[in-house]
Amino acid sequence: MTGTLDPRAQERVDTLLATMDRAAKLNQLQVTFRMTPEENADLARAGIGALFWPMGAAAANAVQRVAVEESPHGIPLLIGLDVIHGHRTIFPVPLAQACSFDPSVTEADGRISAAEATSNGVNWAYSPMVDVSRDPRWGRICEGFGEDALLGSIFGAAKVRGFQGASLSEPTSLAACAKHYVGYGAAEGGRDYNGVDMSERRLRDVYLRPFKGVVEAGTGSVMASFNTIAGRPVHANRHLLTEILKEEWGFDGVIVGDADGVANLVPHGVARDHAEARQLAFGAGLDVEMGVELDLDELPDDLETMPDERLDDAVRRVLTLKVALGLFDNPYVDESAEILDPPGDHLDAAQDLATRCGVLLANDGTLPLAGPAKVILTGPYATSTDHLGAWVQHTGVPARSLAETLAESAPDLDLTVLPATSFLGDEPVDAAAVRAAAAGCDVAVVAVGEPSDLTGEASSRADLHLPGDQERLIHVLADAGIPVVVVLVTGRPLVMAPWLERVNAVLLAWHLGTRGAEAIADLLTGRANPAGRLAVSIPRATGQVPIHYDHENTGRPATTGGQITPRTFDIGLEGPANIAEHFTSKYRDLDLGPEFAFGDGLSYSTFAHAATALRAEAVTVDELASGRTVQVSTRVTNTSERDGDEVLLVFVHDLVASLAQPVRRLAAFRRVHVPAGESVEAELEFGFDQLAFWVDDGAGFRVEPGDFEVLVGPRPDDLTRLQLTIKEDLT
Ligand code: BGC
Repeated sequence: MTGTLDPRAQERVDTLLATMDRAAKLNQLQVTFRMTPEENADLARAGIGALFWPMGAAAANAVQRVAVEESPHGIPLLIGLDVIHGHRTIFPVPLAQACSFDPSVTEADGRISAAEATSNGVNWAYSPMVDVSRDPRWGRICEGFGEDALLGSIFGAAKVRGFQGASLSEPTSLAACAKHYVGYGAAEGGRDYNGVDMSERRLRDVYLRPFKGVVEAGTGSVMASFNTIAGRPVHANRHLLTEILKEEWGFDGVIVGDADGVANLVPHGVARDHAEARQLAFGAGLDVEMGVELDLDELPDDLETMPDERLDDAVRRVLTLKVALGLFDNPYVDESAEILDPPGDHLDAAQDLATRCGVLLANDGTLPLAGPAKVILTGPYATSTDHLGAWVQHTGVPARSLAETLAESAPDLDLTVLPATSFLGDEPVDAAAVRAAAAGCDVAVVAVGEPSDLTGEASSRADLHLPGDQERLIHVLADAGIPVVVVLVTGRPLVMAPWLERVNAVLLAWHLGTRGAEAIADLLTGRANPAGRLAVSIPRATGQVPIHYDHENTGRPATTGGQITPRTFDIGLEGPANIAEHFTSKYRDLDLGPEFAFGDGLSYSTFAHAATALRAEAVTVDELASGRTVQVSTRVTNTSERDGDEVLLVFVHDLVASLAQPVRRLAAFRRVHVPAGESVEAELEFGFDQLAFWVDDGAGFRVEPGDFEVLVGPRPDDLTRLQLTIKEDLT
């Protein structure tokens, strides 16, 4: 977590621990939800370890003062809050941030959010969420970094660095909390909180990897997830909490439960009552319980059988985090420096970072919009200011509308603004009014999507189409015979099939935060050049999910999509002879693959790629195991007259292995800026971790010798294929 504490600090923890009785220790292992100031003060006085943020620097100082001056041991509080993608300045939702393929976006969010939140009295943030998810039905897909484990790991680590700064003890540093450990994003049916059943191999190869990344980046805490894995709720899962996280990875921070996650062991059906639930959870390795209702007096009875050693381990972790945060030396924040209205540079950063996250999915040249032109701006997002996204507190600075920002940034566009329908269909499209407004316009910009409230926690959807009457609006405009640009503002991938072929351009804008509408205007008008790439696949149909690019090949991979026409052969006699066309892995009623694949995304610039090569075409297993990397070099030339960014992707494919391997797996990526007409040489590298896979035979992760394909390029349909040989030894 914290690196090694200096010996004096360690001594401080040990000395304090030695003076505490069991009740005082157990009180340190609780964080409870926002109460009244009086209830908070009572809990602080009794020696509770942590509280939710009491909504202001003065209130935080007041309750902290009670803890320090009036509690039995004077131990300062952890003051926690969900600072997910901003505190006052709101940044793009994490899924959008991953689409930047630029971890500095997330690190900058972390730094600014930490400055704002710490100035308000927060010292612990329940973020980053590094749950891999391949199922857009799950509303929380917007809170994580997409479907790929490497992206989750790198972006999660960037957030930890941003929050925790050079040292946790700096006044602008927050303790991070990586969540939700683990497998939560794989909830069955995409239904929030649902059970998960997966092999140790899938867990290790995919879902655990981002957590390993954030632990290596030094996250101060990790939050357990609500789900079961193979029937055992994670809150009561010793294998995951203790054996893997603490023992195998050496995590020395705090494991906190999710909200009521311990109490939920009762409805899960693995504990008779809360007392038994607590014994199970703390016994499995949980250090802090997060709960809604708390009676501190119950704890000693409930946890009567908790061994001293386990109790001391949990308390030591909490105290160590507090020492590392510098809370014993300076528990208070400077109220005169509280940031309530973010300074201009925070907001400017939010706009710049948001432009880096938009993904241009289709464009026949209609974008960027060029004036003078008559434009009809329509759809609920024409005038809606709902750009902040899920998990934003009341502290978030509101966004503006696209109608305002587009009018401001492109005065030579003659705008007719007509929202024409609501998000959820309670105001159906008035087709005649839309046609009348579109008449005489040169282009239509239809800003459609999902309101923030339809995304995030407890907001799973069974249908991934645009909600309400919004698809019809797109059709009405397409019927009007003018070019149609769709701006899709959403927190999850949506099915686009019903309208995609009818429109000229699609900008996937996501929920981009406080300056989201300005960023969209910048991208539409070309003031910013899009370079985002999909961190998550866009399915053709809801029935296709879960969907992800790094799937295994199957024994019968399909090369063409399905056909719903009747069979013309005798299944018994000719079946095996039809393996090539019929008995392959696909849906009979759907084309092959996603609508848009992981890594897709366009630019207003054009780029040429050349001189793509491996520095060495062979490497040994031992060399990889001792840290040697495989290096790929390439040259990108911007062949257009517009400066732009290009994203370089490197995938690997292990051709023959003892276990079926993904058809490709992201091994490295880099976003490079290439001025118009210029070239940039880039080098990317990957190593053991990107080539290894988990084998359940006691060997753990291993790289198997053999031939690998290395695929390098800007997007999934434009990759250069290189050969890499991994040898057993040098002979
Ligand atoms: C969520 C967590 C969050 C916690 C505290 C829970 O419902 O699952 O992500 O950190 O609430 O607000």
